[in-house]
Amino acid sequence: MADKLIIFDTTLRDGEQSPGASMTKEEKLRIARQLERLRVDVIEAGFAASSNGDFDAVKAIADSIKDSTVCSLARANDRDISRAAEALKGARSARIHTFIATSALHMEKKLRMTPDQVHEQARLAVRFARNLTGDVEFSPEDGYRSDVDFLCRVLEAVIAEGATTINIPDTVGYAIPELYGNFIKTLRERIPNSDKAIWSVHCHNDLGMAVANSLAGVKLGGARQVECTINGLGERAGNCSLEEVVMAVRTRRDYFGLEVGIDTSQIVPASRMVSQTTGFVVQPNKAVVGANAFAHASGIHQDGVLKARDTYEIMRAEDVGWTANKIVLGKLSGRNAFKQRLQELGIEMESEAEVNAAFAKFKDLADRKSEIFDEDIIALVGDESVTTTHEHYRLLDLAQHSEMGERPHAKVAFAAGEVELHAESDGNGPVDASLKAIESKVESGAEMLLYSVNAITSGSTESQGEVTIRLQHGGRVVNGVGADPDIVVASAKAYLAALNKLHSKNDRVAAQG
Ligand code: KIV
Ligand code: ZN
Repeated sequence: MADKLIIFDTTLRDGEQSPGASMTKEEKLRIARQLERLRVDVIEAGFAASSNGDFDAVKAIADSIKDSTVCSLARANDRDISRAAEALKGARSARIHTFIATSALHMEKKLRMTPDQVHEQARLAVRFARNLTGDVEFSPEDGYRSDVDFLCRVLEAVIAEGATTINIPDTVGYAIPELYGNFIKTLRERIPNSDKAIWSVHCHNDLGMAVANSLAGVKLGGARQVECTINGLGERAGNCSLEEVVMAVRTRRDYFGLEVGIDTSQIVPASRMVSQTTGFVVQPNKAVVGANAFAHASGIHQDGVLKARDTYEIMRAEDVGWTANKIVLGKLSGRNAFKQRLQELGIEMESEAEVNAAFAKFKDLADRKSEIFDEDIIALVGDESVTTTHEHYRLLDLAQHSEMGERPHAKVAFAAGEVELHAESDGNGPVDASLKAIESKVESGAEMLLYSVNAITSGSTESQGEVTIRLQHGGRVVNGVGADPDIVVASAKAYLAALNKLHSKNDRVAAQG
């Protein structure tokens, strides 16, 4: 029986730290359920002590997830650890993940603590956490750039206090595969009680090597847990990508000799859900989940694949959840057919009221779009107005006029809480006019950092347009996503979704702060 490689997903914690990727509790819960369907071993649901919003999200996920361990991050202090334990109380299987920086640079400049103080705080934190739960992970932040003798001393102490997993972060993405793999090997060889813990890798992608470094940590270092995110989401250049690491270990089982418990057919749905929720679009040539990952454009390749698939394909598209765009429902489909399709897609609605709201949206869409694909349904249930009862801004109506040579004009009606607002404006184009009309009433003063449009189902202008808008205001960056066959309407929805996120003011303490 091959060893198991534990897959620890941190999309909802480290991934969410990416500017603009912050998610609502409902969004996090929906993604957590997808991660459970994907059968990840551990879901890092958030950083409970960082804000009340994050506490509520971790708690909601802990209360709902049954098949994966649910974990919360906590700095190495009693308050953070108690908050994590409190949020995780309802979990069937819970883990507290506590951390403190151990590199000379971080200790001196950020923490302003001596190595001895850090050593003591790490030890006491793990002791405190172990009194609250049996499953405790410890991370020496910036571990890879830490002095190896000091790191050995800290890690030996926290293992003696009962840490069950030791995670070695390459916090700034500085590592090189061979060096990182050997670093973990050295730690495991030098620390006398290293066999009492599972070793884990956590790599950032600043030099584009997060996946390679993680795999080297597994192969050379003997790590048996990989920390990763869907689509490699994460701050700066992101984290190690779950889909790449899982498919590498699975496809090259001959080399790694390890088992992963992941249901790979759920990879593409998970990728789409994370992308649609955060507005972080997946690049077409991204391994495994990019739109081109299994497309064979060149004649020679197509010929080869038709003769024998494995001439050019090392994985099968359907094994990672790619399905051909299928027409699944149409205008005449009833509520039961719609509900059944939701179930087949693994989408769980909280209540019948949510199903009704989603069905109403579906009917509205089916009136305007003749063929409804799975992707349309996924976008539709991702719409805030279906899953969130407390969204502040809602689009009610939009009309715009544009003609070559004329300046476009838009009229927009939208709700702000209980109040109905009407606004109109000119603009450089119909999208610009619509957003200016909204802004004339909201007066958010937010700066737009990104506007992007994508077709939800590839290859046709009949597709719904999916718009992502990134706004910055008061030091916060948020993304809003909106989908509609009319891209002007999709844009207005995306703008209002971003304004809703700014409005929710869920400020938090940064994990690396
Ligand atoms: O990158 C990092 O160091 C982290 C730790 C908090 C685990 O995310
Ligand atoms: Zn990290």
